[in-house]
Amino acid sequence: MMLHVPEVLTKAQVAEVRAVIDAAEWVDGNATSGSQSALAKRNEQLPEDSEAARWAGELIQDALARNPLFVAAALPQKVFPPLFNRYAGGQTFGRHVDNAIRQSRGGGTRIRTDLSATLFLSEPDDYDGGELTVDDTFGAHQVKLPAGDMILYPSSSLHEVEPVTRGARVCSFFWMQSLVREDARRTLLFEMDIAIQRLATRLGQGEESVVALTGTYHNLLRMWAEL
Ligand code: NI
Repeated sequence: MMLHVPEVLTKAQVAEVRAVIDAAEWVDGNATSGSQSALAKRNEQLPEDSEAARWAGELIQDALARNPLFVAAALPQKVFPPLFNRYAGGQTFGRHVDNAIRQSRGGGTRIRTDLSATLFLSEPDDYDGGELTVDDTFGAHQVKLPAGDMILYPSSSLHEVEPVTRGARVCSFFWMQSLVREDARRTLLFEMDIAIQRLATRLGQGEESVVALTGTYHNLLRMWAEL
């Protein structure tokens, strides 16, 4: 399932993050790639262990933890510390699948990448190109979102970033290990969660069928969650 999560950051938070990371030193993006993606990748990146990346990454992680839509959809177990990239002057990232396992520098976090996320930190009008194209069984989806919005998609998907032909595309990107490994199961739980919340709004949290369905949701999660 691909999901657009709007307003993960406010415009003020985006401006704050941009002020800090724009002033930092950027390096060749291939610092984090596996060998296959290194062939396809042309961009710049903030070093993982830079002070700016760490500070902005924590701000994003705090915002994610308080975002109910993100939590319901991702059921996050471990979130890789957010990274930051910048594409300009025709830079691009050709079609690839993200590495299955990511280890943060210094060995702090090792995760299985179930979900990938791109959080946009540039407004769409600030650059041409730079669409994130993600393939799924229904075809290719092109994504270019307002600054502060995020796209969540299965890490198993082939995806690419179109060349940026004007301006600069600045984004944060990261991976998550979910409590529920399989996309199909996670999607089912998410759809059920949304439907139960709608029913609860209409009928009340304590209504008999709402209580029963909430129980079923938790029992499915109990059956499928890996800690
Ligand atoms: Ni990727």
